[in-house]
Amino acid sequence: MDITILKQTAQALVAPGKGILAADESTKTIAKRLEKIGVESNPEINLAYRKMLFTTPGIEQYLSGVILYDETIRQSIDSASVPQYLAGKGIIPGIKVDKGAWLLPNFPEEKVTEGLDGLRDRLTEYKEIGAKFAKWRAVITIGEEIPTDTCIEANAEVLARYAALCQEQDIVPVVEPEVLMDADNDLERCKEVTTMTLKKVFERLSAHKVVLEGMLLKPNMVISGKKSPTQASSQEVAEATVKTFLEVVPGQVPGIVFLSGGQTPNQATENLAEINKVPGSPWQMSFSYGRALQDEALTTWAGKEENVRAAQQAFLERAKKVGESLAEYARKAIKEQVKKDKKKKVND
Ligand code: 13P
Repeated sequence: MDITILKQTAQALVAPGKGILAADESTKTIAKRLEKIGVESNPEINLAYRKMLFTTPGIEQYLSGVILYDETIRQSIDSASVPQYLAGKGIIPGIKVDKGAWLLPNFPEEKVTEGLDGLRDRLTEYKEIGAKFAKWRAVITIGEEIPTDTCIEANAEVLARYAALCQEQDIVPVVEPEVLMDADNDLERCKEVTTMTLKKVFERLSAHKVVLEGMLLKPNMVISGKKSPTQASSQEVAEATVKTFLEVVPGQVPGIVFLSGGQTPNQATENLAEINKVPGSPWQMSFSYGRALQDEALTTWAGKEENVRAAQQAFLERAKKVGESLAEYARKAIKEQVKKDKKKKVND
């Protein structure tokens, strides 16, 4: 394990004004997304869609990295492998390595993510073909009697084992314990479950000696469930999110890259901008969005070659909106630091 490489990659992934595109939809999920625009999924169509995204002129201004699926990391764009193509644009290639969330035996409403078997060998191969970071998604569902401690513990343990295996190969683990936003719970309940989950995750990461400086956390925001009759404002979401994370996420973690979790592109953009306005957080707070970055581009594209330019335009505009709010915050933070340093010098 080379800690310098891990730290460098982790920091590059949360460079000011930049974030990650999650384009790692599994075979089943990409089929679902394409079905919405009336297109049948197959490896060629999936690549045509993702190529439209990756070849968007100027997108590298806002994207530090892209998470790929196993199918895509083995495909090519303009005679370069996809990871080579992305690296050529200054975008860091990453890979989803989990094998999905499956029913947890004896806990009918809960899931545990699988994929540890053979992971060391798969990581060796992914590293050879250019992956510098990886993703593993655990799913925590909110319900009347759930999540159970057993579900949280099972997921936290595998997340930590995954993270340790990644670091062994100098691959930055993106640790994603996603508390789903779909239920009818209020903000407070989301805060409670997110707190419990993250506490357990960091406990297991520590037990497995994962180097916090060489990983990223990919969490949900603390937000009202989609079916809740009362919806918290962006400011409320931002304050609750930062407060929760300050309680449970160690300051050594270089970055928090939020998932969008089914928020609309505008919601995800606005909430992240507000989160970045809350003072006092030690981490870079950025994005690792799938749907919120892709939705507009996907519907504009609609599977037609003649729509590629318009779809790229929609994609670039969304990435710009999300990225610029982060960059503005970063500039302000730097200015404040410079001011503080000057004051300190005068006082010294
Ligand atoms: P969403 O932003 O669509 O939630 O996807 C992010 C992701 O990678 C989920 O694992």
